[in-house]
Amino acid sequence: MTTIAVVGGTGQAGRAVVHEAAGRGHDVRVVSRRRPEHLDGAAHHAVDLLADDAGQVGDALAAVFDGADAVVDASNGMSPQAQAVFTTGARRVAEAAGRAGVGRVVVLSIAAVDESAYAYYRAHAEQERVYAAGPVPATVVRATQFHEFLGIFFGPDSRLGAWSRLGVLPYPRGCRFQTIDVRDVARALVDAAEGADPLGVAPAPGPSGAPTATVGGPEVRDARSMARAWGRAHRSRRLAVGVPLPGPLGEFFRAGRHLVPGGAVGATTYDQWLAGR
Ligand SMILES: NC(=O)c1ccc[n+]([C@@H]2O[C@H](COP(=O)([O-])OP(=O)(O)OC[C@H]3O[C@@H](n4cnc5c(N)ncnc54)[C@H](OP(=O)(O)O)[C@@H]3O)[C@@H](O)[C@H]2O)c1
Repeated sequence: MTTIAVVGGTGQAGRAVVHEAAGRGHDVRVVSRRRPEHLDGAAHHAVDLLADDAGQVGDALAAVFDGADAVVDASNGMSPQAQAVFTTGARRVAEAAGRAGVGRVVVLSIAAVDESAYAYYRAHAEQERVYAAGPVPATVVRATQFHEFLGIFFGPDSRLGAWSRLGVLPYPRGCRFQTIDVRDVARALVDAAEGADPLGVAPAPGPSGAPTATVGGPEVRDARSMARAWGRAHRSRRLAVGVPLPGPLGEFFRAGRHLVPGGAVGATTYDQWLAGR
């Protein structure tokens, strides 16, 4: 048994990492701002990576990381302000992990994240560089979009809610995806935390310089067919209609830069994931 600290261990990916690591018999510590109601098999430590007092944050993190073999960073910040978790937050985590003598840091990132001008991706690519330059050996695990990701288009409360109310099930036109089950991503991250190849993918130096492994879902699929599958699974009568996804992210997806057909190591397909919900 080893000790693994999961930064962002209450999030979508982080929860799966905690479950996987605890299931493999590891001692798990979780860092996030808010204490969750349920966190099976792990101890929670409330720390805001972006709190004003850097010294206090560093001390709190170093105390959590004390005696840990590995730190997994599965934190996230979507708004321009919150994206500082990828820069300021990562620097604080890396520095505290160094102070605590942690053996390895594992960073959850996104496939080809350095190849888009999308601001969120640029911050994420900076996170990879921060860890690569940090005091603790880092492994970057890049994943393709999670199966949940397309919910931002398909779900009735999606950003495209106005389309939904018109009886439309919007999908990003001209895009294909290789979505992956977050449980497969968690397996990859815990593999890396244990010093093994994530889902059997040998890390090689990535754009940040850190050893990087990219894990993808088992199939590349057209967004239209995924929208229809989502509609069937949710008994939705809405009509699947392609809508343009503007900006650098749309460009990135249409160019297929986010696809890793050679890294199709995820086990659970989109249809299987939909059926299991
Ligand atoms: N969604 C995808 O398709 C996809 C694909 C590949 C990679 N990824 C990457 O996976 C990572 C995790 O994404 P996710 O969707 O699992 O994120 P999420 O559900 O939003 O979870 C974020 C976690 O970070 C914590 N957190 C946020 N700000 C914090 C702060 N200032 N201090 C301490 N903890 C903080 C949150 O807890 P509190 O709010 O309680 O602090 C939570 O535990 C991201 O880097 C994302 O880019 C996502």
